[in-house]
Amino acid sequence: MPAMKTFLVRTFGCQMNKHDSERVSGMLLSAGLTLVEEPADADAVIFMTCCVRENADVRLLGQVASLKSIKAARPGQLIAVGGCIGQRDGAALLDELRHVDVVFGTHNIARLPALLDSAREARRPVAETLNAGDGSTFDLPLEREHPWHAWVPITVGCDNFCSYCIVPHVRGRERSRAFEEIVSECERLVTDGVVSVTLLGQNVNSYGRDLYGQPRFAEVLRAVASTGLGRVSFATSHPKDLSDATIAAMAETSQVARYLHLPVQSGSDQVLAAMNRRYTKEHYLGLVERLYTAIPGIALSTDIIVGYPGETDADFAETMEVVARARFDQAFTFIFSPRAETPAASLPDTVPREVAQERFDALVDAVQRSVVSKNAALLGSVQDVLFEGVSKRDETMLAGRTSGNKVVHVALPEGADESEFAGRFFRVHIDEAQTWFLGGYIVSGA
Ligand code: SAH
Ligand code: SF4
Ligand code: F3S
Repeated sequence: MPAMKTFLVRTFGCQMNKHDSERVSGMLLSAGLTLVEEPADADAVIFMTCCVRENADVRLLGQVASLKSIKAARPGQLIAVGGCIGQRDGAALLDELRHVDVVFGTHNIARLPALLDSAREARRPVAETLNAGDGSTFDLPLEREHPWHAWVPITVGCDNFCSYCIVPHVRGRERSRAFEEIVSECERLVTDGVVSVTLLGQNVNSYGRDLYGQPRFAEVLRAVASTGLGRVSFATSHPKDLSDATIAAMAETSQVARYLHLPVQSGSDQVLAAMNRRYTKEHYLGLVERLYTAIPGIALSTDIIVGYPGETDADFAETMEVVARARFDQAFTFIFSPRAETPAASLPDTVPREVAQERFDALVDAVQRSVVSKNAALLGSVQDVLFEGVSKRDETMLAGRTSGNKVVHVALPEGADESEFAGRFFRVHIDEAQTWFLGGYIVSGA
């Protein structure tokens, strides 16, 4: 059979998967393959999958099924499924999806090239998923989406076992990366021209807990910010572990983004306890007030689940109260989706679908009002914007992000090229506030 020459990676799910996809691309590019855009041109199509909610599962099945006819027209094409569904289902996926050739998990990304070769040579599908902690994948080559931005994992896995969540089951126990390794990677990135990094972990605030004597997250933040980067972001923070030291590091370090993603999940203490979140509504709101006081102008985003088993109207009213009091700049809202293997999946007291939908709609409205008023408050201000290039929808507009993670659109100056702006900071005067973006004009380079 001829050698593989081309490949394509389709990515679902969170930033951890995006980062893993950069490593998959990096490995295959260094093995001599070329990245293509259309499945019909690819000798290997790799799906990096997510199973955090049911609709993510369903989407994968649809996408893989739609490749059947393409594969029939391109004999020898290989389809690989990795990421969290690969880890969860392993070899069982090969029975379910007959035209899949390789299944691999979250702990053995480095094995993908060898697995593709073995499926091709033996003309037989292969599945390999290791257990948590068996494989280390921090030091693979990678191909970054933007040359000026990098994802830098500082922890992998999760020890929190929120009762609804599949992540600890598919990503394994929390493991922190060595402090020196993180800092030296960031120093290298700066030399390579990276200006912005996002530190990644399911709960970055618990960094170092498994490394006796290691610095904690606040020190990581300060050290990374002093490597010469222009912007340092991080995700995700767990409210039970967000420390005053971290808030102080954010407040005192200008390179750290004025933005925090702090998932609340619910405003009801009963629901939070049932979810195993280990904080109360008042603890959460106390953190929010401390953040607004210590870091004026900070933007806050959150995740909220409605329809958790047993959630009453009164519980939901508490969630609505949190939305009103916390004044979020953005919120990712979800209807509870039972995931096999998690304790919440077997709870009897389910909320009827229509009730969950009504709560969801009311929540989305409340979030929208909050976002609109937070964006309007920025009218007339000047923001540091890191441009990404021209907008996907309109090539005459540049798109970038503020330190508060808000999308900003600015007209591309006549005769200018996007490459003069991508990956660079400019000061932008904001004169338009929409729900999903801000508009403005450049006042000066930052
Ligand atoms: N480690 C991160 C991200 C977890 S997944 C964190 O703790 O915030 C992202 C979000 O998906 C979660 O915050 C939660 O709001 C949502 N989520 C996870 N499992 C879910 C489920 N079973 N049903 C609905 N939403 C879920
Ligand atoms: Fe899931 Fe909770 Fe871990 Fe986040 S902290 S990944 S919600 S178990
Ligand atoms: Fe999804 Fe896995 Fe991330 S389940 S949210 S891709 S850790």
